[in-house]
Amino acid sequence: MPRKSTPPASTSENPDFYYPSRDVVRKAHVKDWEKLRKKALDDPLAFWEERAKELDWYKPWTKVLEDSKAPFYEWFVGGKTNVILNALDRHMRDARKNKLALIWEGENGDQVTMSYYRLRQEVNKFANVLKSMGVRKGDRVTIYMGRIPELIIAMLATVKIGAVHSVVYGGFSTEALAERIEDARSRVLVTCDGAWLRGKTVNLKEIANEAVGRSGYVEHVITVQRTGQDVEMVTGRDYWYHDLMALPIASPKCETEQMDAEDPMFILYTSGTTGRPKGVLHTHGGYQVHISATLKYVFDMKDEDRWWCAADPGWITGHSYIVYGPLILGATSFMYEGGPDYPYPDRWWKMVEEYGITIMYTAPTAIRGLMRFGESWPERHDISSLRLLGTVGEPINPEAWRWYHRVIGRGECPIMDTWWQTETGGHMITPLPSAPLKPGSGTKPFPGVDMDVVRDDGSSCGPNEEGRLVIKNPWPGMLRTVYGDPDRYIEQYWSFFKEQGWYMTGDSAKKDEDGYFWIIGRLDDVIKVAGYRLGTAEVESALVSHPAVSEAAVIGVPDEVKGNVIHAFCILTAGAGKPGEDALKKHVRSEMGPIAVPAHIEFVDSLPKTRSGKIMRRVLRARAMGEDEGDLSTLAD
Ligand code: WTA
Repeated sequence: MPRKSTPPASTSENPDFYYPSRDVVRKAHVKDWEKLRKKALDDPLAFWEERAKELDWYKPWTKVLEDSKAPFYEWFVGGKTNVILNALDRHMRDARKNKLALIWEGENGDQVTMSYYRLRQEVNKFANVLKSMGVRKGDRVTIYMGRIPELIIAMLATVKIGAVHSVVYGGFSTEALAERIEDARSRVLVTCDGAWLRGKTVNLKEIANEAVGRSGYVEHVITVQRTGQDVEMVTGRDYWYHDLMALPIASPKCETEQMDAEDPMFILYTSGTTGRPKGVLHTHGGYQVHISATLKYVFDMKDEDRWWCAADPGWITGHSYIVYGPLILGATSFMYEGGPDYPYPDRWWKMVEEYGITIMYTAPTAIRGLMRFGESWPERHDISSLRLLGTVGEPINPEAWRWYHRVIGRGECPIMDTWWQTETGGHMITPLPSAPLKPGSGTKPFPGVDMDVVRDDGSSCGPNEEGRLVIKNPWPGMLRTVYGDPDRYIEQYWSFFKEQGWYMTGDSAKKDEDGYFWIIGRLDDVIKVAGYRLGTAEVESALVSHPAVSEAAVIGVPDEVKGNVIHAFCILTAGAGKPGEDALKKHVRSEMGPIAVPAHIEFVDSLPKTRSGKIMRRVLRARAMGEDEGDLSTLAD
């Protein structure tokens, strides 16, 4: 096992650690991780204010943090800005103007490259198109697309004019999309005809049409042509993107709307403990400070880097680290449309070589999936351009970490295991390149962030004792509320440790004797399937919307590649014939999307419930895994 054995002089030799090479440390933005952490924790507001000063503002703030209405915190109060001012406009005044902002490769080999100047032109044009459709400051625009450059253009254009985007991941299906359109009350939907995935096209426009029919808010649908497949266009409602962009109204001149630091910027729906997905709301001022600071320090972004975040823009990782973070830093970002193993399992490594990617950020499930194909696939390519690696979304098992480190990172690239959430906006627990690493641990909180693992009474857990992961102080990228439901914001995140005023993450974790954090998993009804966040309630409601299913309960069971897969228990409707397992899976796929399809479906006569009617998932989990069901004294019957 190649292991960098050049610890900084101050650190004693410890076989648990992987130390960064002197070269990595010498070149890093932050050379002494612990020193910066200590300094920032002594005065977090000063730390964040310094980061905010690295950005452009139309008008500076008068107060860094307003906490008198906590947990409705406000950051950079009185400041005027717009994320687009920093992501595009400010780059026009120097050489970045002609630098590549985006390199894109389609699954079928199509390529697009865009300089900052060109990207800004396209964004301005589409911003004018949106305005001509009546979109105004504060209006919500829903975006449902594959991973293509126009997705980024649509997001940026929306934010530029002060509107609020709600991007719905292209892997979601009809009901999931309809529900999100409805909650956001979007009058405009931007979509595409189809998307390429593993050599086939997914018919996004058809799903969009059905969802628009179900939700009843959308007045205009703008469709980007990607696959060229036949789609149904409704006269008076539907327009082609390329037609609109060719009209005189699509002028490349457009003023960026000056926003209050606390004005809404986007909503992103995510699964929570109960019921419908929550619209997590982020704002202009704090969000841009948080994501640009974390991207710069954690991934050590330099002007000459080629950055690849292999997530989807439809999730928070894509929002923060494909779209906004890299653009604010003026970086060159790579985005790829399709499947990682298409047409062969070396597709990713081929592109790393071809584009000279220097920093790569992906999810454990992708690493485990590619690891299964063996080392010969990455070995076919010269991927020595890589200097730093990252992972996000779920705990990474040490075996996958070591493979990633040794085979992809040549034993030389530090791995940044970043823990965070849709709600946190950006990284919260993460190493910086100068930190000693332990495979499977995200190390410690980012500078300025105070976190702990605590017991239910709020006392700190001892070393290696499992407890609740909490965030003890506010941070600029924090969600501001649940869209349209402030009570749920308080209830979900701030009620458990109300007295202490801590944010409850919903994760369980441990801290070891070195103070390193180890994430165990979710404590609530959220399941992480291949890194995707799903709520049990959503999957269950997709199952019971099938006429033959009267009740359903789903749980996550461990899976070697995906982390977890869904195991569903269903009760048949009286008198209904038993549907085939495949028919039921197909139904879930068309309601929720492929990521929500259960791996196993089991028909049962009853579900274990407490006397108050709550499903005992613990009992189901034991049953699915063939384990002892434990204490059943609270079971209703
Ligand atoms: C999990 C993704 C372990 C965690 C950015 C969290 C992780 C949830 C890690 C949020 C990690 C994320 N190690 N677990 N490095 N990163 N998680 O909102 O359970 O899709 O609460 O945000 O993913 O998922 P979300």
